[in-house]
Amino acid sequence: MVNEKETSKGIGVFMVTVITLIAVYIGLQFGIPWLAVLAGLSQTPAPLPGFALGIYMACALAGTLFYMSSEEERWRSFLSPIIGLFDVSSSGPGRTQLLVLILIPLTVGWAAWRILIPGSQTPTVIRVQHPGLPEKFAEIDNPYAGVSKEEREVLEREGVVLFQKNCRPCHGTMADGEGPLARGQRLRPVDFTDPGTIATVVESYPFWRISEGAAGLPSIATPWNSAMPSWSEELNDEDIWRIVMAAYRLSGTEPRLPEKLEP
Ligand code: HEC
Repeated sequence: MVNEKETSKGIGVFMVTVITLIAVYIGLQFGIPWLAVLAGLSQTPAPLPGFALGIYMACALAGTLFYMSSEEERWRSFLSPIIGLFDVSSSGPGRTQLLVLILIPLTVGWAAWRILIPGSQTPTVIRVQHPGLPEKFAEIDNPYAGVSKEEREVLEREGVVLFQKNCRPCHGTMADGEGPLARGQRLRPVDFTDPGTIATVVESYPFWRISEGAAGLPSIATPWNSAMPSWSEELNDEDIWRIVMAAYRLSGTEPRLPEKLEP
C-alpha cells in the first residue's frame, strides 16, 4: 500500500515533469519557428522537421528522467503516482484509475482511426528521362566516328581519364551511377550499365546532355530536380566526344545507330 502523503507529494513531482515536457514541446513546435521571424531572418515561421523534434523530445525526456532519478527520495516520489495507479483499494478503483482505464481504449481507437482515414498525397510527377533530342544536336555527328581502331583506343582512354575526373563523383567509377555523391540525390545519377539508358539513344544524345546538363532539359524531364551540370564551358567539344565514347566503353554498351533517311 502506498502512503497517502507520499502519493500526493509524488503527484506534484510527476506533474512538474509532465508540464516541463509539454513546455519543451510547445517551445520547439511553435517557439523556435517564430524565433526566426522575430529575429528578422525569415518572413514566415520555419517549422522544425519532425525527426529533429523527435530527437529533441527524446533528449528532454532522458534529461528529466536523469534528473528525477539522481536522488533516491525524488525518484521515489516521482514513481509513487505511477505505482499508485496499480494499487486498487478495497472500495474499488479511484478517479485517476478510472480515467486511465477510459483513456487507453480511446487513445488506441483514435490512433487506429487516424491510420485508416484516407489522406491526400502530393501528385506524382511523371518524368520523361529521354525527351526528344533538340534539332541542333541531332545534326551533329561524332567527329571520331571514322578513326582507326588504335586511334579510337587512345581517344577512349583519354575520355576515361576525363570521366573519372569530372563525372565519377556522381556517375561512379564504372559509370554505374554509384558515385560517392550519388546517394544524397533524390533524382539519382543515371546508371549507364542499365540497358535502358545511354544504350537506347544515338551518340549525339549524351553529347547534348553533357553539354547542356539539366539546364538544357524541357520541363517534361523536370530539369529542376536534376543535379546534372552543364559542361560546355568547362570542356571543349572534342573532350566531350572523348567522354561520350568512354561512357559507352566503361558501361560495356553501344550507342543506338542513327536512322538516316534514304535520299
Ligand atoms: C553532380 C552530379 C553529376 C555530375 C558531376 C555529372 N552528372 Fe550526369 N547526371 C546526373 C544526374 C542526377 C542525372 C539524371 C538526371 C538527368 O537526366 O538530368 C544525370 C544524367 C546524365 C546523362 C543522361 C543519361 C540518360 O540516359 O538520360 C548523361 C549522358 C550524363 N549524366 C553524363 C555525365 C557526364 C559524362 C558527366 C561528366 C562530364 C556527368 N554526367 C557529371 C548527375 C551528375
